[in-house]
Formats: sequence, structure tokens, C-alpha cells
Amino acid sequence: MLDKILRKKPSVLDGSLAERVTELKKRQIPAHVAIIMDGNGRWAKQRNLPRVAGHHEGMKTVRKITRMANELGIQALTLYAFSTENWKRPKMEIDFLMKLPGEFLSTYLPELIEQNVKVEMIGNFDKLPGHTKTAIQKAMEATKDNDGMVLNFAMNYGSRLEIAETVKEIVTLVQEGSLAITDINETLIGSHLMTAHLPEPDLLIRTSGEVRLSNFMLWQLAYAEFSFLDVLWPDFDEVCLLNSIEEFQMRNRRFGNVEGEGNV
Ligand code: FPP
Repeated sequence: MLDKILRKKPSVLDGSLAERVTELKKRQIPAHVAIIMDGNGRWAKQRNLPRVAGHHEGMKTVRKITRMANELGIQALTLYAFSTENWKRPKMEIDFLMKLPGEFLSTYLPELIEQNVKVEMIGNFDKLPGHTKTAIQKAMEATKDNDGMVLNFAMNYGSRLEIAETVKEIVTLVQEGSLAITDINETLIGSHLMTAHLPEPDLLIRTSGEVRLSNFMLWQLAYAEFSFLDVLWPDFDEVCLLNSIEEFQMRNRRFGNVEGEGNV
């Protein structure tokens, strides 16, 4: 208990942001926010910089948004950092992207620990370069006992691949005789996904004006609210996140039901 009190960090926000956070916290805060961080390349191009400069700036946004999400009391923040399709990019860009977790975590791990954030990852870990794996493993190990927000990096992640792996796992259990076909339902499938231990995302944010899911959490986002923003990821800031949360709070979520009715 004392340990928890000591770990409760003071607010990192300035006055006006803190006031807005207090107001938003009077209503429902999404348990899980998933973000497609798009527009780094365009941000760099607008400034005549190499694309990787946009990714580097995007990493700084990750820090800002992690802090704010934690302040809001969001339980899980999943960030799409590298998709299974991103291997098609030029080698130099891939190499840079693969170094970002190491740079981010070596700079900000103490801060994440202090904020009681737990670092996790979804995606195909085995195919990542050794140095990326080491950085992620180290951060996961150092934060494994933290019980605050989960900062979940989707690295080498693809939703179709995740679903295919899930199907293989379930079929194997059926073949072994430890599962009956009649046991297969939505809950069971969800419990075999990489996000099984997390609440379902309530809110998906995609920056940069693109309006698509790009193979991101296709199963998990079935009932999420979507917030597509014109801002490029390096320009996304705390106020943008608060605006998306406010928009989420104004949506009327019916989950297939009709207004004011229901038996659940
Ligand atoms: C898409 O923008 C962005 C990515 C493929 C990489 C996202 C990565 C980060 C924001 C940094 C991650 C940080 C850590 C700590 C892992 P794009 O390059 O496709 O942009 P464009 O559409 O404008 O070209």
C-alpha cells in the first residue's frame, strides 16, 4: 500500500491542461486507446528533411502522449509502431525505425518506471533485430511489476497474421482433443489474441488524414469509436488527445442495441 502511495507520481501537466483533464475524468475515459501514428514522412517532407527525421520527431510525440494518457487514467495505450507490411520500406528507414525503441526506452525508461507504466509489445517478436528485442525485453522486465497504464507497442504487428496464428492455435487444441469445436466462440477467439489480457479498445485514433485501418487490430476494434484527424503524428499533442477523448465522450455507443433499451 505504502509502495503504491509512494509510486503515485505528481501531475506532470500545466494548469490549463490539468483543469481540462479533471473535467474529462468526470465522464467515461476509454479503457484502451489504440493509435495509428501516421504522417511522419509527410511532416519531414514539409520541412525538406529526410523521412527518418519525421520518425524521430514522432518518437517525442510518443513520450508526450504516453504521459497524458497516463494522467487521464487510460488503462492501455496501443501504438502502431511498425506493421508487418513496413518491411517493404527502404532498408535505411527500417533500420532507423528498429533503433527507435532502443533510443526511446534508454531515454525514457526511468520516467516510465516513475509513472508506474508497464511496457508491453504485440507483434512477431522473433523476427525483430537483436538490439530491438533486447531494448524491448529490458523495458518489459523493468516494468513488469508496474500496475499502471500498459504502454503496448505494436511492432512487426499485422492483424491478419495475428488472426491466422490464433486459428492455428485453436485448431491445434481441437486436434489434441483439449477443445471441442462447440467451445469455439467469440470469447475464446479473443482469449487467444495477443491482446487477450487487455480491455478491448474503446477508441481508435489515426493521424494524417488517412481513413483506413491498415491491418491494425481488426478483431479488437469491432466496437471502437474512430477518430480520424488531419494532424500529422509529430504535430499531434496533448490537446489533440484531449479533443479526441472529448469527441469520444459525446458519441452515443449502443453496441447494436437501441437507445435506452436493452437486457444487458
Ligand atoms: C507511419 O508514418 C509511421 C510509421 C510507420 C512509424 C511510426 C513510428 C513512430 C511514430 C515512432 C515510434 C516510436 C517508438 C518509441 C517505437 P509514415 O512514415 O507512413 O508517414 P507518411 O504517410 O507521411 O509517409
